Amino acid sequence: MSHQIAIDGPAGAGKSTIAKIVAGKLGFIYVDTGAMYRTMALYLSRQNVDPDNMEEIGEKAQSAEITIKYIDGEQVVMLGEENVNGLIRNPEVSAMASKTSQVARLREKLVELQQKLAQTENVVMDGRDIGTVVLPNADLKIYLTASVEVRAQRRYKEMIAKGQEAVLSEIEKDIAERDYRDMHREASPLKQADDAILVDTSEMSIEEVADKIIELYNTK
Ligand code: DC
Repeated sequence: MSHQIAIDGPAGAGKSTIAKIVAGKLGFIYVDTGAMYRTMALYLSRQNVDPDNMEEIGEKAQSAEITIKYIDGEQVVMLGEENVNGLIRNPEVSAMASKTSQVARLREKLVELQQKLAQTENVVMDGRDIGTVVLPNADLKIYLTASVEVRAQRRYKEMIAKGQEAVLSEIEKDIAERDYRDMHREASPLKQADDAILVDTSEMSIEEVADKIIELYNTK
């Protein structure tokens, strides 16, 4: 049996940064499921799918050829033969992914891919429904969160550091809206699994959080 750590939580709680560190320290692979939803969104935009037409989204999603590979330990998402890692982290794709990920048929396709990966590899997998739907028997489930204010501050600092323009109040509004959509959708809404451990990162450094998760895993 492979070993599995599931990390769920809202956007900006630090899931991917922390999951990557934990995976590196334990020698597991890191699976970023958000990147798969983003890739699907990119595919659907290119197909000119109407973001409000759930039926069309579910139908067209079936023909997307999404695969994952690892290059020097980094997850690379492939859309057909194309490496799309550099194309999926922008506000347009984020908005499209937030909408299209509400469609159950689309989710089924990606969940299958995620479960296959976790069958053969030791994984730290992050997302919204990993502990509740994808890996219900994970060895450890973490629900990672932080206040909207703290998450918006972190995102703001990141954007300023990259030389991008950023307005804190807009980022806060954006995060609150995304939280609402992720938590209130019908298909696999974001929620803490009954057996997940809540970790609030508002007052913690990245290293503190990673160490805490490793400690929890080792004492399981
Ligand atoms: O974590 P992220 O921001 O890269 O996720 C992109 C979008 O995909 C986000 O709107 C939530 C959705 N998502 C999801 O519904 N289920 C997952 N397991 C991961 C992401």
